Amino acid sequence: MNEQTLTIGLIGCGAFAESQDLPNFTKHPQLNLKWCCDSNIKRAKEMAQKFSVPNVTDNFHDVINDPEVDLIKISTSHEVHLQIISAAAEKGIHVFCEKPMALDETEAYHIIEAVHKNGIKLCVDLNRRMAPSMHALKKQWQKQLASPKYQPWRYIEMDRALLPEEEKSHLLMNIQDESSSYRIFHFNPLKGGGEILGETVHWLDLACWFFAPQFPVEITAWGDCRLSHGINIKFSAGDTATINFHCSGTFEYPKEMYNLTARGALFKNLFFVENRYYGIPDLDREIFPMQYDCMRDALPKDGFDAYMKKYNLRNQQIIGNSKDVHNSLPFTVDKGHYAMLSAFIDAIINDKPSPCDEIAGFISTYLAQLAIKSIELRQTLPILIDKLTPII
Ligand SMILES: NC(=O)c1ccc[n+]([C@@H]2O[C@H](COP(=O)([O-])OP(=O)(O)OC[C@H]3O[C@@H](n4cnc5c(N)ncnc54)[C@H](O)[C@@H]3O)[C@@H](O)[C@H]2O)c1
Repeated sequence: MNEQTLTIGLIGCGAFAESQDLPNFTKHPQLNLKWCCDSNIKRAKEMAQKFSVPNVTDNFHDVINDPEVDLIKISTSHEVHLQIISAAAEKGIHVFCEKPMALDETEAYHIIEAVHKNGIKLCVDLNRRMAPSMHALKKQWQKQLASPKYQPWRYIEMDRALLPEEEKSHLLMNIQDESSSYRIFHFNPLKGGGEILGETVHWLDLACWFFAPQFPVEITAWGDCRLSHGINIKFSAGDTATINFHCSGTFEYPKEMYNLTARGALFKNLFFVENRYYGIPDLDREIFPMQYDCMRDALPKDGFDAYMKKYNLRNQQIIGNSKDVHNSLPFTVDKGHYAMLSAFIDAIINDKPSPCDEIAGFISTYLAQLAIKSIELRQTLPILIDKLTPII
């Protein structure tokens, strides 16, 4: 392995690979993108041509048998993760894997075993934990916990101490999505496992990352296992997180909004482009640049209000055009994909811990399964400490 650059092979060249993996791998100065692999060879060739990738195959073994390959990225449907990870691990190849890491706990245990036995590094692309705006939100929240500042006009009952629950933090994650855009494999129990596993693992992981070193102790879920649902998680020191995931929404409004309440303050993350803070004197909003902003020239501003204006402007340009316009007008907020990739490359080259390792991948899979069970049983379920720290 070269000290400074890694050779990578991409397995699964679908929609996500086209929008994130291929542009990011091509752009990254420490990556040499050598393979496009897709079981649909026509798709592999199309992507290889679009991003100037020299080698194409429909068989992932060709990629892992290439002695120059240091690292693979898996962006396939979910049911082939274990098979590909096991084969790559045996060759000593590091693995960057799309979420969910596994379809169930047993599969996840086998993945952990393959990683540990062969001494490779694995990173699961639970990217929300790497979004710059999320890091900023967490930092402001921690500052408020360490030395709270309150508005002078804050109304509090002076004749009583704060109750224990008034000292806890709550993270509300509101997700509205348009499920007509979902790939059919997401709904197939053999290939996708439904949206709690396929998508909500993002927010299960984000909650665990946010409240660490607390660990989750209790989970309650409601709604449908396949699409719209809600989940509440209680953490070991009493903080809580609630995920509201609804699939009958619209792309006309941002998909994700976050509200964190703690110590007399509200910390809002507005779709990764702006954080607004309320209840803390003199704490200004923070603005975060988009990952791709094709409307920058038309409106050279950042922040949530500018984002909404630019989004509507872009949609007006798309109306009446062919589908290709979506690709030629890239407009993406920074959800942490590139930061995750960079951190994983750094972890491999400099032998550091993975930014989202196989245990994090396991925990999000386990919590997703527990949430599904909670819906089925209509019960709150305990999260077992031995499950959070598997010995394999
Ligand atoms: N992290 C995120 O924010 C995010 C966002 C969207 C999708 N994803 C994930 O990306 C992955 C792909 O999703 P998508 O929307 O691109 O789906 P997609 O159906 O567009 O692409 C999947 C591709 O994998 C190929 N494939 C399937 N099995 C294969 C195999 N054994 N070998 C080689 N190729 C194989 C398919 O032919 C297809 O082209 C999923 O795991 C999904 O959860 C992640």
